[in-house]
This record gives sequence, C-alpha cells and structure tokens, in this order.
Amino acid sequence: MARTTYYTATTLDGFIADEHDSLDWLFVQDLDEAGPLNYDEFISDIGAIAMGATTYEWVVAHNARTGEKWAYDMPSWVFTHRDLEPVADGITFTSAPVPEVHAEMVAAAGGKGLWVVGGGDLAGQFADAGLLDEIVTYIAPVTLGAGRPIFPRRYGLRLVELAQNKAFVCARYEIVGTPTLWA
Ligand SMILES: NC(=O)c1ccc[n+]([C@@H]2O[C@H](COP(=O)([O-])OP(=O)(O)OC[C@H]3O[C@@H](n4cnc5c(N)ncnc54)[C@H](OP(=O)(O)O)[C@@H]3O)[C@@H](O)[C@H]2O)c1
Repeated sequence: MARTTYYTATTLDGFIADEHDSLDWLFVQDLDEAGPLNYDEFISDIGAIAMGATTYEWVVAHNARTGEKWAYDMPSWVFTHRDLEPVADGITFTSAPVPEVHAEMVAAAGGKGLWVVGGGDLAGQFADAGLLDEIVTYIAPVTLGAGRPIFPRRYGLRLVELAQNKAFVCARYEIVGTPTLWA
C-alpha cells in the first residue's frame, strides 16, 4: 500500500499557520533546500495529494499575489462542503468519506506515495481512519501562542528520523496509535 505522509512545517508550539492563516513566520527562516528531509526529494515520490479547503484557498490567494501557478502536477483532492473553483486540471473537490478518497488517491498515485498537505484536522481524519503512516515535520524556531494546530488529536508517535536543516529541526514520526503510555 502506498505510504501516506503528512509533511508540514510547524512552530515549536505546534501551529502550522497563525490565526489569520499567515505563514510569514515560516518564509523568513534559513533553510537548505537540498538538506535533510527536503521538499524536492519528498515530492518526487508523491503521486497524489489531499488538502483542506482553507489550505487550498491559501495556495490560490498566494499564487494570485505572487503570479505563481498551481505547483502540483499530480492528481489533487480538496476536501470541502462548498462549490470551489478549480485553478488547474486534476483537482477534485470532495466531501466523501476519507477512506473512499484515500482509495481513489492510491489508485491514481501509480505506486507512489500520498501527501496529506494539511490542515491538521484533515491529517487527523486520515489517522483516525487508520490511513496515515507518518508525520514529517520541519520545526521552525518560533512560537506563536495561537493558530492552526498541527495535529489536534491524542496520538502516540515514534521518532524514526531526526536532523537539523539550518534553522529547522526536521523529524519523521511514525503513527503508533492512540496513546497507551499514560492511559
Ligand atoms: N505550515 C505548513 O507547512 C502548512 C501546511 C499546510 C497548510 N498550512 C496552512 O494551515 C492552515 C490550515 O487551515 P485549517 O486548519 O483550517 O485546515 P484545512 O484542512 O486547510 O481546511 C479546513 C476546511 O477543510 C474542509 N474539510 C476538512 N475536512 C473535511 C471533510 N472531511 N469533508 C469535507 N470538507 C472538509 C472544510 O472546508 P469547508 O468549510 O469548505 O467545508 C474545513 O473548514 C491554512 O492556513 C494553510 O495555509 C500550513
């Protein structure tokens, strides 16, 4: 079965965006794009992606500001209950159950991995369905105090890879399951 990864950057206090959906705290950080657990290597083995509507709208607004185009050439699923406009081919809007969408993603991915882009609750929904294998995260040296949480769930994780990339701690965690250590 294709590996399903939630790959994201976070603050030290566990937010992937501030409460206004800003990532300004992230883009100012020092990063070696060829460093450990880097995005280019990660995305080269991804065959399908999924994201929530807030993330989609952030990407679309960001691209409108910068003149960039939709960066994902693999099939993409956007979870929403609304009628949103696709900005590129290969984007499917869905409110179908996560297992159903995951099966469609696996079929479309041609043996490559699946990326849950975010947000945190959507990644949690994949985990709750037993369909999230790992979280790979870049931890930025910043705290925000509030914002969009990385993974608003109680789960046990196993640290399987750890490195520094300039300003960031980079870590790969396998999902173990609901925590039993302190239950
Ligand atoms: N730091 C990073 O690397 C990183 C990575 C990814 C995202 N981000 C940012 O983090 C923020 C994430 O926002 P967020 O936490 O609000 O989450 P989100 O997952 O991007 O969006 C949440 C929305 O997705 C839709 N949704 C979620 N689950 C659904 C389901 N099962 N069925 C149908 N629709 C579903 C709902 O939209 P509707 O209201 O349309 O129904 C919900 O309001 C964004 O600002 C994004 O840009 C940061």
